[in-house]
Amino acid sequence: MARRGALRPPAEVRRMFDRIAPRYDVMNRLMSLGRDVSWRRAAARAALARRPSVVLDIATGTGDLAFELVAQGASHVFALDFSLEMLRHAARKRLEKQVARITLVCGDAMRLPFRDRSVDACTIGFGLRNLPDYEAAIREFARVLRPGGVLVILETTPFEGPFAPLLRLYFDRVVPWLGGLVSGDRAAYSYLPRSTAAFPRAPELAELLCTAGFADVHFRKLMAGTVALHVAVRGGAEVRADTAAWPVRAPREPMRP
Ligand SMILES: C[S@@+](CC[C@H](N)C(=O)[O-])C[C@H]1O[C@@H](n2cnc3c(N)ncnc32)[C@H](O)[C@@H]1O
Repeated sequence: MARRGALRPPAEVRRMFDRIAPRYDVMNRLMSLGRDVSWRRAAARAALARRPSVVLDIATGTGDLAFELVAQGASHVFALDFSLEMLRHAARKRLEKQVARITLVCGDAMRLPFRDRSVDACTIGFGLRNLPDYEAAIREFARVLRPGGVLVILETTPFEGPFAPLLRLYFDRVVPWLGGLVSGDRAAYSYLPRSTAAFPRAPELAELLCTAGFADVHFRKLMAGTVALHVAVRGGAEVRADTAAWPVRAPREPMRP
């Protein structure tokens, strides 16, 4: 199968998120009609089911999933992203909420600055779709997870079923218009429906997870099938990621709020 990944190269993706960071949270609430909060709640619940001690939230953005993980009792969350502007907002929220159990890490999801098998659970919310190679990314997540560790992927998914035409109308027309109005960046919010349409369907993503050595792979669809929540358990076999891991060292905070 041909390599599948984001429609835009990483540098462009990073610039896009740097630009929309100030209005990112507001836009999420508006376009999901507030439902995104409950999706992240469900994702955090799935990630914490086996009581992990170290959780890594990949592509954390402004940190909403990381904050939800902590709210549900995670003892420590490393929250990683490569957009400094998104992380800056996460840092501001961490200060406002007075949360000490989140360490912000500036890094690349394709080359995670973590040792092999060092993490008990990985989450990624609306991030996988933006990575340049889905299969390589999943292998990289498997590399840092310990056997038995849980991977949770929350992502928009190609629309199917009787509501698909209506959903396409909403995401192709209304969301970019709203994005232009609220964030001043219509292009970023036109990218959302296009990249969603090009993303693997939920059963295909489940297959990629199985191929990468994950077990107990299952998913459920949320919000009229617009979002899929995949949960998978890292099997016991050795995982070799194509992307060489960064030199082994403890992740450091990239900035102080
Ligand atoms: C749609 S946002 C999701 C933010 C957050 N997880 C949420 O649930 O709202 C996608 C995030 O992925 C980050 N991202 C994209 N590619 C990345 C990469 N290669 N490494 C690290 N972060 C990346 C972007 O900077 C952006 O913050």
